[in-house]
Amino acid sequence: MIRDLSIFCCSFLFLTLVHSQENLITNIDGRETVSLNGTWHYIVDPYENGFYNYRYHERNENDREAYWNRPQLENRSDRIEHAYEEPYTIQVPGDWNSQDEKFLYYEGTVWYQKDFDLKELAENEKLFLHFGAINYEAHVYLNGKKLGSHKGGFTPFNFEIPREILLKEDNFLVVKADNKRHPEEIPTVNTDWWNYGGITRDVNLVLVPENFVQQYSLKLDQDQDILQSKKENNFLLEGNINLNGKADNPVAVLEIPELGITEDLDINGRETNFSLQVEGLELWSPKNPKLYEVTLTYNGEKLSEKIGFRKIETSGTDVLLNGEEIFLRGISIHEEIPQDVRRAHSKEDALQLLGWAQDLNANMVRLAHYPHNENMTRTADSLGLMVWSEIPVYWTIDFENEEVLKKAKQQLEEMVIRDQNRASVIIWSVGNETPVSPVRTEFMKALISEVKEMDDTRLISAALEVHHEDGINKINDPLGAYTDLISVNEYLGWYGGLPSDAQTAKYEVAYNKPFFFSETGAGAKPGYHADKLTRWSEEYQEWYFQEKVQMYQRLPENFTGVSPWILVDFKSPRRQHPEYQEGWNRKGLIGNKGEKKKAFFVLKEYYDTMEKKYD
Ligand code: GCU
Repeated sequence: MIRDLSIFCCSFLFLTLVHSQENLITNIDGRETVSLNGTWHYIVDPYENGFYNYRYHERNENDREAYWNRPQLENRSDRIEHAYEEPYTIQVPGDWNSQDEKFLYYEGTVWYQKDFDLKELAENEKLFLHFGAINYEAHVYLNGKKLGSHKGGFTPFNFEIPREILLKEDNFLVVKADNKRHPEEIPTVNTDWWNYGGITRDVNLVLVPENFVQQYSLKLDQDQDILQSKKENNFLLEGNINLNGKADNPVAVLEIPELGITEDLDINGRETNFSLQVEGLELWSPKNPKLYEVTLTYNGEKLSEKIGFRKIETSGTDVLLNGEEIFLRGISIHEEIPQDVRRAHSKEDALQLLGWAQDLNANMVRLAHYPHNENMTRTADSLGLMVWSEIPVYWTIDFENEEVLKKAKQQLEEMVIRDQNRASVIIWSVGNETPVSPVRTEFMKALISEVKEMDDTRLISAALEVHHEDGINKINDPLGAYTDLISVNEYLGWYGGLPSDAQTAKYEVAYNKPFFFSETGAGAKPGYHADKLTRWSEEYQEWYFQEKVQMYQRLPENFTGVSPWILVDFKSPRRQHPEYQEGWNRKGLIGNKGEKKKAFFVLKEYYDTMEKKYD
C-alpha cells in the first residue's frame, strides 16, 4: 500500500531519458497497434537505381521511376521499369539472407513494399509507424512522401505519419533497406557474425492520442538501503513520464493492482518524475522473477506492461543483487536461430535460445554484440535470466570520427530507452574488444558518461583488453577505471597454447572491482570425436572447459563470473574451413542442429556447483 507519494516536475531535478531519441515510443506491445508483419513485395537494387538516376543524382520526389513511387502506366505505350509484383515476395519480420539462397551473401539495398488500409483517424489521434529494427540503413516512404531515415541495425525507431498524406485505402508503404558495411558505421566493416539484412523485426502502425505518454519508466530507487527496505518491507519506487509534447491533461493514473496501488499523478509538464513508497514488494531475481502488471493511463490511452523491481550494485569486488552477493553463471548468445540459419525475432525464438541457457543452469546471458529484439529481454524478465546488453562498438571502430561517436550514442540511447523497464537488464556494455589507444578510451568514456547520465539502475561494462606481460595476464585497460565491472575475453588454449596452459595462468586485475570473463571458448565440430589433443574434436573443447573450470578456482577473489563464448554455433563469413566450419563459428556448446556437445555438460556441472555455493 502507498505510504507516501511525492511528485515533482523534473525540469530541474531529474536527468531525463529524453535524449536525441526523444521521439522513440516505448512499450509498443502495450499500445493500440496494427501489425504490418506478413508478406511484402520487394525489388533487389544493388545499383541503387531506385534512389539515383543514371547520372547517379538522387531522384527527386516525384520521379516516376523512383522506387518509392507507385508505378503507374498512362497507357499501353508507357514505360516504367520497376514494379512490386509476384513472385517477388518476402516475409516481414525476417532477414532476407535466409529467405532465398540468392540473398545468402547479399549486401546492398532491397526495397520492400506493402499496401495497407486504415480506418479514419479521429481528430484527437496520431498515427506512427514503428520498426523493431532494420539492418542497417532505412529510408521510409508513404504514398510517395519521405517519412524519415534511420541508421543502426539493432534498435527501434518510429516516424509520425502526417494525416494529410494518409489514404483510406491502399496506402503505398515503401522501405529501402541497405545492409552494406562501411568503415564509419557502428559496427564497422569487420565483424565475426553474419551480416543479416532487412526488416528483421516487427513493424507496427501505432495509434496514440494527440498528446500521449511517449516514454515512461518505473523502477526501484537504487539509492535506498535495500537491506533496510527488505527488513521494513517498505520500498521506494521512482517513476519518469515523458509526453510527446506539453501536457494537455493534468492527471495520469498509475495502477499496480497486486500492490493495491491506484494513484493519480500530477502531470504538469512534458516530463514528470514521481516517487512512491510501497509495502509488500517481492523483488525480482533469477530465483524469483517476480513481475507486476503496471498500468499507466493518460488521455484515454491505457498502457500496460509487466515490470520487475530489483537493485543491482557493486560493493568493492562483489556484485550484489538486492543486497546479496551473486555469481554470474553466464552464457553469450548471438541473435540467431541455427536450425533455420536466420535472425531470431519472435517470442518462440527467445524461448528456444533462453531455454537452452536455462538447460545450462545459467542465471545470466550476454546478448552479443548488439541489442537483441525486445522478445529476448522481456522473456529474460519472465524466465529470471539477468542480461548483459551491448551496442556493436566492436573491434576497430573509427574512433577519431565525431560522427561515429554520435551514431554510437544514438544506438546506445535507443537501447537504453527501449529496455528501461526490463528488470533482467543489469549491465549496459558500451563495446567489445576495442583496441587500446587514447582516442579510443576518450570515445568509450563519452559513451559511459552518456549511459550513466541516462540510467543509474544498471552496471556499466565493456569487454576490455588484456595485457600479457612477464607471463602474467594483466588487466589494466585504462577504460577499466570507468566501468563498474572489469570484463575481459580470454581464449588461452584456443588462440595460443593448449588448454593445459590454464594450469599455470596468472591474472592480475589493476582495479578493486568485480572481475568477469565476458568470453572464453574453443571450437568443436559437432559429433567429431578424437583424443583431446585433436583440434576441432568435442574432446578438445571439453578439455578446454575442464581446464578453465579448474583455473577459476585459482583466480583472485574478485572473480564474479563468466559468460562463455558461445551458447550455439553461429554463422560467420570469417569461418570458412571446408571440413570443420563451412561458414560456422564452432565455439558453440550446442551445435547448429541443436546437439549438445560434451563441453556443455562440463559447464553445466560447474554451474550446478556454483549455484549451490551462492544460493
Ligand atoms: C572475440 C569476439 C567474438 C568472436 C570470438 C571468436 O572475442 O568478441 O565476437 O566471435 O572472439 O573468435 O570466436
